[in-house]
Amino acid sequence: MSQIYDLILHNISLASFHFESKDDEINNPYGIVDNPVICIKDGLIAGIFNADDPLIDKLETENSIDGQGQWVTPGLIDCHTHLVYGGNRANEFEMRLNGKSYEEIAKAGGGIVSTVKATREASKDELFKLAAKRLSYLMDEGVTSLEIKSGYGLDLKTEQKMLEVAEELNQFSGIEISKTFLGAHAVPIEYKDRADEYIKLVCETMMPELHKLGLIDCVDAFCEGIGFTIQQTKRVFEKAKELGLPIKLHSEQLSDLGGSKLACEFNAWSVDHLEYLNCDDIKHLKTSGTVATLLPGAYYFLSETKLPPIQALRDHDIPVAIATDSNPGSSPCLSILLMLNMATTLFKLTPSEALKGITINAAKALGIDNTVGSITKGKQADLVFWDIESPAELSYQIGGNPCKRVIKKGKVIINKNQ
Ligand code: NIG
Ligand code: FE
Repeated sequence: MSQIYDLILHNISLASFHFESKDDEINNPYGIVDNPVICIKDGLIAGIFNADDPLIDKLETENSIDGQGQWVTPGLIDCHTHLVYGGNRANEFEMRLNGKSYEEIAKAGGGIVSTVKATREASKDELFKLAAKRLSYLMDEGVTSLEIKSGYGLDLKTEQKMLEVAEELNQFSGIEISKTFLGAHAVPIEYKDRADEYIKLVCETMMPELHKLGLIDCVDAFCEGIGFTIQQTKRVFEKAKELGLPIKLHSEQLSDLGGSKLACEFNAWSVDHLEYLNCDDIKHLKTSGTVATLLPGAYYFLSETKLPPIQALRDHDIPVAIATDSNPGSSPCLSILLMLNMATTLFKLTPSEALKGITINAAKALGIDNTVGSITKGKQADLVFWDIESPAELSYQIGGNPCKRVIKKGKVIINKNQ
């Protein structure tokens, strides 16, 4: 107790999302800690004490925050975004409302490849400004870690440009951005009807080059009728494995090709979307410890009616993450709190399941759960203060933003209490 802490937080309610055991998680699904005082040192949580502990008076600090009874949760984590892109697709939104389907638009040369055109044409500076603005909305709601995918370049130069923008955002924003290479997102126009040759470019040129530049934390692909086949996806995963890179997959979004099963064979960090996931394949997620990432924004915005197999995921005790999937085509969404609401209303997750989906389980989906995602001694001090009376309010309320203060690595980066 003799050490001097950098920051002490008191007069707060704490939903830590830290669980000592499965029983603990069942009995206390928000990981609530009674009467807590959080001590921070060198950007880490140095200890959590009980405010009634007589030793509390002896704690020394240069700085303390009276939380005025506000709730504190871990910093939120958006584990699936396509935040860097040029243009928008409001025209396609209008086409869909006039009767065309997402797949029809994609097959007619719209969809992902139309964003590819805009992203190739945009300068790095323009892409940075657009993405920084999008990121500011997410951070304003308490996001302290997020993932950004490439995949709107589909050539080496533009994929590199996108991932460099993600890296610059990482340095500029002070929050951690995990960079995912999604070269196998769609077949670019110049490779029309030559998907296998494009996959060769992805595997033999783009992935190794970008990896050499340190721009890849994880490799993703879009396994789908309008994306890539199982065989093509497998080639991408084999190359990632050879380079020692972890993988994840857009799978079973519009149909069941068996992508999740394949991804689990490669120990995927996560499989994402999953509306068409076959219940029989859930056992593979269990074996490989893969997170099921659900994207209610895309489900909603594409007016999908087939629900992911939520009860079966629950029955198999698969960790479920929730993310915005922020992108111009299927989920033009810049609100993680709205996703929390949709995860409960559309997918029937309980409020604590939904919150786990944007904290501890989202951290697992990014392979960063050793350092973030819950509030416990030794983890990074990434914390959000909320002006709410119970954690369920975060998924209950639609609109409004009760985020009052954000602490990243022990430093206050947002304070709306003044
Ligand atoms: O996650 N499914 C593939 N990729 C994105 C959509 C991209 C787009 O339409 O621009 C998704 O939904
Ligand atoms: Fe996506």
